[in-house]
Amino acid sequence: MLFPSYRPRRVRKNETIRKMVRETRLSVDNLIYPMFAIHGKKVKKEIPSMPGNYQLSVENLLKEAQAVHELGIPAVILFGIPQVKDAVGSGAYDEQGIIQTAVGALKEKVPDLMVITDVCLCEYTDHGHCGIVENGEILNDPTLEVLAREAVSHARAGADMVAPSDMMDGRVGVIREALDAEGYDGIPIMSYAIKYASGFYGPFRDAADSTPEFGDRASHQMDPANTREAMREAEMDVAEGADILMVKPALPYLDIIYRVKEEFDLPVAAYNVSGEFSMIKAAAREGWLDEERVMMESLTAIRRAGADMILTYWAQDAARILRG
Ligand code: PBG
Repeated sequence: MLFPSYRPRRVRKNETIRKMVRETRLSVDNLIYPMFAIHGKKVKKEIPSMPGNYQLSVENLLKEAQAVHELGIPAVILFGIPQVKDAVGSGAYDEQGIIQTAVGALKEKVPDLMVITDVCLCEYTDHGHCGIVENGEILNDPTLEVLAREAVSHARAGADMVAPSDMMDGRVGVIREALDAEGYDGIPIMSYAIKYASGFYGPFRDAADSTPEFGDRASHQMDPANTREAMREAEMDVAEGADILMVKPALPYLDIIYRVKEEFDLPVAAYNVSGEFSMIKAAAREGWLDEERVMMESLTAIRRAGADMILTYWAQDAARILRG
């Protein structure tokens, strides 16, 4: 393969030939759209740090979900902002809770849209931590029981899939067992298997009102410096019954997505998180970047690294472009 007999530019001459040799495809089928449900009526409150994303009361959530479905996006992931928060996050498993209500309404109105629910306590605890706290410590084992209860209540409400994002040790197994015991053995678990303690979640915590009151999440979320540990996390979740492995965030961790895809045979999801979205939005607003171009480049890069599916706040914008 030496110049001048080989000339790589031959296959870049025009868009027709570029399309023919393109190695990675982004499809609407790959997209999952995150949504934020809140109590009340006629609420459509834009999240200042995430332009174009809203906290939505159920009837507005239904409208938006209908639009998502019409764009051909297969799934949404739901986050809930409860009316009241307490020390144990009891709103997380309340049968009349925000997620339970929203899921019920969604499955009735837009039955073909897959509804994934985020399973965690941070949105429901008054201290904003992902677990039960005692003497300033986030307890692992007592939290598992609450997470399992939350997952089962989501399934009972009609959720098609649950996605534990708490990063407690052993939660996938406990949730799998609880779901099976209640007859939900057909509900898949998309595990946030490898979730880093990342500064890129900042805007989301405004959206979900889940910033920890003290301390941080470094005692359960992963150190951004670690790769081998990430593989052990994924291995554990596979053994405990995860159906899909997620890596989060996406863009700063493309190497991790690649490794997970190489080493495991489960489908791989990547969460293109709030900060990844907002920083590009902000730069585009300043006129420093072409948002559409950078968005499509980012999503394609996440696919190229190995993600089968991408959770992204751009799902609707990308779907519009992909559908022409
Ligand atoms: C926890 C959860 C978080 C995100 C998804 N699930 C926040 C956190 O761990 O602090 C972040 C998503 C994003 O930044 O877009 N329930």
